[in-house]
Amino acid sequence: MKVLLLTGLGALFFAYYWADSFDPASLQGARVLLTGASAGVGEELAYHCAHLGSHLVLTARTEAFLQKVVGNCRKLGAPKVFFIAADTVPEVPERVVQFALDKLGGLDYLVLNHLGAAPAGTRAHSAPGTSWLMQVNFLSYVQLTLLALPSLTDSQGSLVVVSSLLGRVPTSFSSPYSAAKFALDSFFGSLQRELHVQDVNVAITICVLGLQDRASAKEGVRQDQGQEPGVVGGHPAPATVHTKHCCPRGVTRTKTGLGPKAALAVIRGGATRVSYVFYPWCFHVLCLLRAWLPHPRAWFIRQELNVTATAAA
Ligand SMILES: NC(=O)c1ccc[n+]([C@@H]2O[C@H](COP(=O)([O-])OP(=O)(O)OC[C@H]3O[C@@H](n4cnc5c(N)ncnc54)[C@H](OP(=O)(O)O)[C@@H]3O)[C@@H](O)[C@H]2O)c1
Repeated sequence: MKVLLLTGLGALFFAYYWADSFDPASLQGARVLLTGASAGVGEELAYHCAHLGSHLVLTARTEAFLQKVVGNCRKLGAPKVFFIAADTVPEVPERVVQFALDKLGGLDYLVLNHLGAAPAGTRAHSAPGTSWLMQVNFLSYVQLTLLALPSLTDSQGSLVVVSSLLGRVPTSFSSPYSAAKFALDSFFGSLQRELHVQDVNVAITICVLGLQDRASAKEGVRQDQGQEPGVVGGHPAPATVHTKHCCPRGVTRTKTGLGPKAALAVIRGGATRVSYVFYPWCFHVLCLLRAWLPHPRAWFIRQELNVTATAAA
């Protein structure tokens, strides 16, 4: 009896995670506005959409990197691809949304993915740094959403929000980032329910992605503690932003801690209109068990991130 019960539960578990209703053709001709498209996860998202035949408007601040991504998208077969170089702060995102509506004639997907850093000379943990990061990583998402919602409502489209495990499980040395991601989770979780109650057929998919690579995490902590960037644990830190490496399909990608598989999970989630995507899937279990998990010991964190206790320093 117990064996049968466990087998049944196991089957349900696997069915839940691996049931695949994704139809790649659904992305063909879809009108997509994608933020943070010049590097990392956003760049990978752009290549998947291009490959699947979507019509794209890509945005980020650095024109040169956007041009490179646009070129690669064309090579991958994107029928229409445009870019607009814009900073979400202090510029209002109106210009970006209006550009996308003008170029594409409407929107089927808004993919919010950009990730800003505190301005040079500002400590992320300071009040001005935190305020800036909340503006870039949370408020601009809200502004873009409110501007695009009428068009998404017309098309019965989808809103895809790229978030992080740190928006579900807080950890040390990430308070401004975590705060913005928790805010995204609450805002878009609430909006999901609101649209449902109002019978508005716009799907919202919140994507909880796993941690970046350890070296980048260490580098972030080091810089946040006011130490010289560029050296992690006695070794040169890898540049995670705008570092090029070759990929199998012959386009040059910007390196990221998460690869094309994470981006594909985001695309699948958006296309199948699920409420949440967890990548890797095991982080769903971690989020569910969060309340019962003990806090990692401080000494473990110090070892892992190569930091010293302030009192001992
Ligand atoms: N990589 C990971 O391991 C990981 C893990 C968990 C979650 N995530 C999530 O995945 C998303 C993408 O992360 P990523 O690692 O790919 O980031 P990334 O490599 O640092 O790329 C960030 C993107 O945002 C753009 N951007 C930065 N500041 C901006 C601003 N003020 N206005 C407009 N665009 C701006 C950047 O281009 P410009 O600099 O040219 O503007 C770039 O295109 C984020 O939401 C992040 O929280 C990533």
